[in-house]
This record gives sequence, structure tokens and C-alpha cells, in this order.
Amino acid sequence: MTTPTIELKPSAHPLAAAEREAILASPGFGRHFTDHMVTIKWTEGRGWHDGQLVPYAPIPLDPATNVLHYAQEIFEGLKAYRRPDGSVATFRPDQNAKRFQRSARRLAMPELPVETFIEACDLLVQQDKDWVPAHGGEESLYLRPFMIATEVGLGVKPANEYLFLVIASPAGAYFPGGVRPVSIWASEDRVRAVPGGMGDAKTGGNYAASLLAQAEAAAQGCDQVCYLDAVEHKWVEELGGMNLYFVYGDKIVTPTLSGSILEGVTRDSLLTVARDLGYESEEARVSIDQWQRDAENGTLTEVFACGTAAVITPVGTVKRDGAEWLQSGGEPGEVTMRLREALLDIQRGKVADKHGWMHEL
Ligand code: COI
Repeated sequence: MTTPTIELKPSAHPLAAAEREAILASPGFGRHFTDHMVTIKWTEGRGWHDGQLVPYAPIPLDPATNVLHYAQEIFEGLKAYRRPDGSVATFRPDQNAKRFQRSARRLAMPELPVETFIEACDLLVQQDKDWVPAHGGEESLYLRPFMIATEVGLGVKPANEYLFLVIASPAGAYFPGGVRPVSIWASEDRVRAVPGGMGDAKTGGNYAASLLAQAEAAAQGCDQVCYLDAVEHKWVEELGGMNLYFVYGDKIVTPTLSGSILEGVTRDSLLTVARDLGYESEEARVSIDQWQRDAENGTLTEVFACGTAAVITPVGTVKRDGAEWLQSGGEPGEVTMRLREALLDIQRGKVADKHGWMHEL
């Protein structure tokens, strides 16, 4: 694997400080982008080349570019946090880099070296450091590395040219209205991914496939759709863009990775953070019937969603065909909020990073 150098070509006209500050005061999610981006090309026979940090700008694409037709695309999401001393660190970028390689293998794309992935993110955050929101609030700088097939042509085959990019976007709460319990529609007919498919790869197609079910969830008055497995339509998998955790008193349980569930970095980190706080944590299969029964008999005390964008978001109302129930009385649960604070304290540099998860720039 070649490890390309990344040439710095910064913008002569970054956004004025006053305009940037106005955005940072209320960034929302994924609506504003920083002054720069990183691009690296891959060509068959040559490998990775022409790494550049350049002003953020549209990328011209021929209408016959492969990705526009056959969706050979993968992406990642990770965040940079401002620490109490003003410095900046990212959370477990090596995990995102490795997942990016796994996604690349699944979509027959070239693997980017882990060190190049991390360097590209580092350079962009260093260049656009003023875009990292102040320490102490909910906000952070969301990084979106992604790769597209850029070969021009309509043949269905792995492309012979690719473009890797990293863009960055200041981010507040993913769900409008801050940290509030979200409502879930458990879809018993639509599925997100199938065994042997690409549900464990982070690729746009999985998110495109989720949109109709998400619209149906919205029509049911819910914020998010929850998918069940594609074979038995029984086992809880994940939400449209985040993993799920069930809280049974002092134990937290997340659905076992099935090959059609995305292996979330937040999901994985919480298995450890929970143990640090004295809770038990485990991966297990949870059926939708068990979810309903345990919520109704009171043994299932809380449920929450987790992901890089969503952080930890409590679940309130749950609906399925013919039934509806409320988790934790519709309030954010105590264990949910304790885990949330503990994870954010590590990410924001408020407590010792005993697992070596933070990557300082
Ligand atoms: C993330 O949490 O980073 C995601 O990728 C979820 C969503 C915004 C697509």
C-alpha cells in the first residue's frame, strides 16, 4: 500500500471570523462546512497519489462517473473535540480508519493506509482549528472522510480510479431540540440489510435503503426507524443511522453483531465505559417481542441509541404494529445519562483517558 504525502494549498480567502462565529453559535448538524478539504487520488497501477489539502469547493464529475450510477462509495464519521486547555483531539480515529478499510474491501475498493486516513483528518483539523467549537458545550467538529469511484464509464465492475476526501462540519445535537428522548417505529416488514449483504459496511447505499422506512416512521409520528433482522423479522438490529442499547437495571445489552449491523465505534466504546462505571455490559440477541415484554413488565428500565453523530440519545416512545409503549416514563434514563456524561467527559478531555482513545493533534 503506498502512503502518499499531502501537499498543503490553503485558501487565501477563509470565511471571515465573525461569520464563522455566527455559525458556531448554532451549527445544527451537517449544514455548514469548514474552509478546507483533503483530496487523495487512487489509480490502478499507481496507487495513492496527489494528496492535497485545498479550499473547500465543488468537485466536477463527468455525468458517466461510476459512483453516480452504481454507488461504489464508502464513508466515515468521527469528531474532533476542544479540550479545557484549548487544544483539540479526535476520538479513536484508528477505529474509523480500520472500519474504512473493511468497508473498502466489501465494496471492492482500494484500502487507504490507516496512517494516511489519520494524517488527512489531522491536517484538516489543524488547518481549520478555529472551526472546532469551544470546550464545554454539546458541539464538536464532525469529520466526514469518504471515497468515491471516479472512473468514467457505465460498465458494472470495480472502478480503476477513486477519490478519497475529508470534509469537516461543526456539529451540535443530531436531533433537533437537544438531548430529548426520541420515538422509535419498529418496522416489521422493511429491512435494512441481509445476511451476506453490506449492512456492516459504511456505504451510502445502506442509508439510501433506510429512507423509505424512515419516512414511514415519520408518518407514524416517530423520529427513527428500528430494523429487525431480514430472515426471521424478529431480532432487533439497529436504527437508520445508529446502534441501540437496552438497559436492564445495572446491565447494558447491545444486539450482537450479525454481519448486517454496523459495528459502531460508540457502540464498542460503551461496552468498556459501562464496565468502568461498574455496570455489566454484553452483546446478545434481543427480539422485538422481548423488548415489548420486558418494557411492559418493567425489567427493561431504559433504552438508548448511540453513534458518533447521535452520541447517546435516550429512547422514549416505541411503536410497532398494534402496540405502543413508553421507556423510562418518557424521560432520559439515569444510566443512559451517566454513560453519556462519562463518554463525553473522555471525549472533551475532562477526565483521564485511561484507554488511550484520544488522539491529540
Ligand atoms: C455517524 O454517526 O457518524 C453516522 O454516520 C450516522 C449518520 C449521520 C449517517
